[in-house]
Amino acid sequence: MTRDRESWSPGSWRAHEAAQQPTWPDTAALSDVEAQLRLLPPLVFAGEARSLSADLAEVAAGRAFLLQAGDCAESFHDSAADQIRDKLKVILQMAVALTYASGVPVVKVGRIAGQFAKPRSSNTEERDGVVLDSFRGHIVNSETFTEADRVPDPGRLLEAYHQSVATLNLLRAFTKGGFADLSQVHSWNQQFVASSPEGQRYEAIAGEIDRALHFMAACGIDLSREGSLHEVDFYTSHEALILPYEEALTRTDSTSGDAYDCSAHMLWIGDRTRQLDGAHVEFLSGVRNPIGLKVGPSADVDDITALCDKLDPGLTPGRLTLITRYGADRVAAHLPDLIEAVGRSGHPVVWACDPMHGNTFTSATGHKTRRFDDIVAEIASFFAVHRSMGTWPGGVHIELTGDDVTECLGGSESILEGDLADNYTTICDPRLNARQSLDLAFLVAEQLRA
Ligand code: TRP
Ligand code: MN
Repeated sequence: MTRDRESWSPGSWRAHEAAQQPTWPDTAALSDVEAQLRLLPPLVFAGEARSLSADLAEVAAGRAFLLQAGDCAESFHDSAADQIRDKLKVILQMAVALTYASGVPVVKVGRIAGQFAKPRSSNTEERDGVVLDSFRGHIVNSETFTEADRVPDPGRLLEAYHQSVATLNLLRAFTKGGFADLSQVHSWNQQFVASSPEGQRYEAIAGEIDRALHFMAACGIDLSREGSLHEVDFYTSHEALILPYEEALTRTDSTSGDAYDCSAHMLWIGDRTRQLDGAHVEFLSGVRNPIGLKVGPSADVDDITALCDKLDPGLTPGRLTLITRYGADRVAAHLPDLIEAVGRSGHPVVWACDPMHGNTFTSATGHKTRRFDDIVAEIASFFAVHRSMGTWPGGVHIELTGDDVTECLGGSESILEGDLADNYTTICDPRLNARQSLDLAFLVAEQLRA
């Protein structure tokens, strides 16, 4: 059990090498911010993280499906309420499509209310001969290319906390206060989605759900007393990258005595920060939240099983989610060996597919983009491999927005390279728009049903 590792404490990561950390110019200011964060209330509670662990244990056992979705990087500038609402609408629509078509419960986890930090391939960025610090997400600095804006500012840790508070507050209201009620199923279909083929397909399902609810009511079932029809459990997650922030929000749960990182329900470790002896692995090995681990094509199978041993020594279902992100044409070459090795190791992991990050390239127009067809192909390959090996393809991990953006190519509206500039608003990676996201959910549902 992780809690018996006497050497662990929320700050024990400091004795390990921490990759992808900004060089904070004013360490006294950083310490001051950490002290303030330690006094602020937790964003989520240990009991909620435990209930996500229990839900994920159902996924690990092949009885539920994980939908993890949201922005690549949340922004401090987003006009908060509308964008959060629209993102939630798409995720609810996807969940409905998946649940209805597959008959399998869907565990809903947002990349939201804390997804502010980005690992970068280079510490610096050069434009026209000028070299500045890379943009590392709004929790660190700003994407605008001026010297002052790129200096890491610890005050942003507090800003990230407060924006997460506001986002989570709205999410709790939306998911528990009537907005997510199944009787509202039509209202999540935004206008620009409803006019599309996938929007109409969604309307058909929504109509059937309406009829099913009326049917049950007519049979004498008092629907008002069925709590699960009226709200959803919606969990938060982000990459645990900026460790002073995560440490400062780590609290000891009074009921169990265990440490939880109360910045989100689920935290994941990126493909760039999963060094076995590194600070990120050390930190997350000691908190009891469910943990995700991103696995890219450069991963060595033995390294991943060693990471599983360190992060999940108790072989606890729901503790660990392996999120593979190989690229569509590399899944078949990499995933079978990993499944076999992890199977031998005895870790009852959730298998999730991130079909986004292995399929990113720069278009001729200079936009970072992804092809919808590659995303679909990676998911299809993920399902095929798991089916052939008898393991459960447990979930998907998607970067999306509720806005009508033009960041990924293709989909039923056939976004072309020349269209990318029309509404390209991401501050980091390209996201599926609401139509593409819903389209994808139907395709995943078909795979699940097969
Ligand atoms: N609570 C159930 C669930 O989360 C049913 C439900 C209510 C639901 N509102 C929903 C499902 C919105 C998907 C989307 O599965
Ligand atoms: Mn991304």
